[in-house]
Amino acid sequence: MDLELAGKVAFITGAGQGVGKGIAQVFAAEGALVAVNDLFAERADSVVRAITEAGGKAMNAAADITDLDQVKSAVARVVDNFGPVDILVNNAGVPHEVRSGAVKRTVFSGSDPMVWKKQIDLNLYGCLNCVHSVLDSMIQRNNGKIISIISEAGRTGEANLAVYSGAKAGILGFTKAIARENGRYAINANCIAIGATAHEGTKPILDPDATPETNEILNKMLKVYPIGKGLKRIGRPYDAAYAVAFLASPKSQFITGQCLSVSGGFSMVG
Ligand SMILES: NC(=O)c1ccc[n+]([C@@H]2O[C@H](COP(=O)([O-])OP(=O)(O)OC[C@H]3O[C@@H](n4cnc5c(N)ncnc54)[C@H](O)[C@@H]3O)[C@@H](O)[C@H]2O)c1
Repeated sequence: MDLELAGKVAFITGAGQGVGKGIAQVFAAEGALVAVNDLFAERADSVVRAITEAGGKAMNAAADITDLDQVKSAVARVVDNFGPVDILVNNAGVPHEVRSGAVKRTVFSGSDPMVWKKQIDLNLYGCLNCVHSVLDSMIQRNNGKIISIISEAGRTGEANLAVYSGAKAGILGFTKAIARENGRYAINANCIAIGATAHEGTKPILDPDATPETNEILNKMLKVYPIGKGLKRIGRPYDAAYAVAFLASPKSQFITGQCLSVSGGFSMVG
């Protein structure tokens, strides 16, 4: 099946590593022109290099997505180089302080309001800033795809991640409203809820090459991922990336305002 992504301009946030990098590589392999956004320009550069070496087309669109002005100027650079953004993938979502272990997970009653702000700024405001920066142009062109990566934490709630869970749930409500407001302009807005996903960035906690036979943490995690038991793994970036590619394709044009779980059966919504 041709997903008809060739020549489409895709702006992918937090694409300097992990899930976003996987999405960027799958889009480039489908012929999309990929704007690789990340907070760290050198991460974005290295993904641009990898895509280019593999024969794809990509550019660095580094910006801090919590800063609306930075996002607008990154989008302007993309428009100048590749043309207007057809597809926005809101992927950036884990503050590096949390990923690096500098900020510990904690119950809400003992949590630090400064950490709440960082979580809401990155997950929720980051998404609002990016959508706001591309939406007018999508409306004018009567065409656009917006896909936001949330977490199963936003659907089911996760202990010790209350603010993150709330921010991800907020993205879902926002997405449904955007889908309702902009269906008349043929703009689709959907979410993908992922569960635990291993990649180069998770190595300090879980090596993506771990097997349940040798890794006790993975073995325990698989108890809540039904298909993961059979596959002997948790999620990988390509799991999300293939689903995002489908939701970015004209082939899924009648799907909007939805949330698709790509989480090995962690949650099964009726
Ligand atoms: N990995 C998992 O287990 C998991 C589980 C559920 C949901 N998710 C969600 O999937 C998405 C991707 O997760 P990941 O594991 O690849 O994260 P990651 O932390 O490995 O990578 C995210 C990238 O976003 C970038 N980033 C951070 N702040 C930014 C900012 N202000 N502006 C621009 N870029 C910024 C980081 O530099 C990093 O390269 C996130 O939305 C996350 O919440 C991940």
